[in-house]
Amino acid sequence: MSEPFRLDLPIRPRRNRKSAGVRGLVREHRLHPSQFVLPVFLHEDAQDHAIESMPGVTRWSPDGLIAEAGRAWNDGIRAMVLFPKIPDALKTAGAEASYADDGLVPRALRALKAAHPDMVLITDVALDPYSSMGHDGLVGDDGRILNDATIEVLCHQALCQARAGADIVAPSDMMDGRVGALRAALDEAGFEDVSIMSYTAKYASAYYGPFRGALDSAPRGGDKKTYQMDPANGREALREAMLDEAEGADVLMVKPGGPYLDVLANLRRASDLPLAAYQVSGEYLMIKSAAAAGWIDERAVVLESLTGIHRAGADVILTYFARDAARWIAEDSKS
Ligand code: PBG
Repeated sequence: MSEPFRLDLPIRPRRNRKSAGVRGLVREHRLHPSQFVLPVFLHEDAQDHAIESMPGVTRWSPDGLIAEAGRAWNDGIRAMVLFPKIPDALKTAGAEASYADDGLVPRALRALKAAHPDMVLITDVALDPYSSMGHDGLVGDDGRILNDATIEVLCHQALCQARAGADIVAPSDMMDGRVGALRAALDEAGFEDVSIMSYTAKYASAYYGPFRGALDSAPRGGDKKTYQMDPANGREALREAMLDEAEGADVLMVKPGGPYLDVLANLRRASDLPLAAYQVSGEYLMIKSAAAAGWIDERAVVLESLTGIHRAGADVILTYFARDAARWIAEDSKS
């Protein structure tokens, strides 16, 4: 028999992949439950409801929410973001319910703080769940979204959330100048310690469809393209990031996550602020439905999708898979 063929190869990258131990040593990015934010849906009803448009996700009653926070805490989750479903009767053109101190979100914040004082509580700052028009901003007579007038309402909303115990407010409305205005309003009211996680590059995305079903918050007319970003634009995200940074944002967010990894990577290079990415409802649903059909391995795809988002530059990841992923990571770290 002749000698086996051997290349004279001094450099062999595969050496760093030769065993699980070596792969672990040279791994560049690791997911950890402490970087996840669990988005939770809540409503006034005394019963929890399975959300039809998002299989596996529940809209919680006030008591159910507290129980869910306890389960999330036990899984290693340390941050939650709250999304309320507001009854139609409370929705108005002026979205006044967005800053009612006895509203659903402030009550949930106080109850969560009492039950789980160390859970980081994040609130969405935008008018869509409260607006009879289903838009993130106030709508003018001509159908246009009113930037500056909206900001005044957003400031009331953020102050109301801060009074109820929000640790971080997250403006998702994409009005110009809202980060600076929120910072000034919070500081003036003595909430210097309340952080702002800005939805810096929030795209006008079809991937939000299932979420709007969960909250019944789809726009009643028109679309969100005059305020959310055009999916075709990458450079524009850098411009938004520079503005948010100058206006005092503490964390910058890109949304959706998976389809916008280039934007995330560019922001990572352009800013030293912590970066967040939101793996949104449509991304969740695509994985969930393919897994339910038996077409992909849910656990492996979820962890790979989150690793990709982290590798591209996200420190923080908002994901409906937060609890599952936290458990899977804990299991993997023991094997
Ligand atoms: C509302 C808001 C949306 C999401 C988060 N905050 C919907 C929208 O802008 O229409 C989407 C989240 C998801 O799809 O998971 N301001």
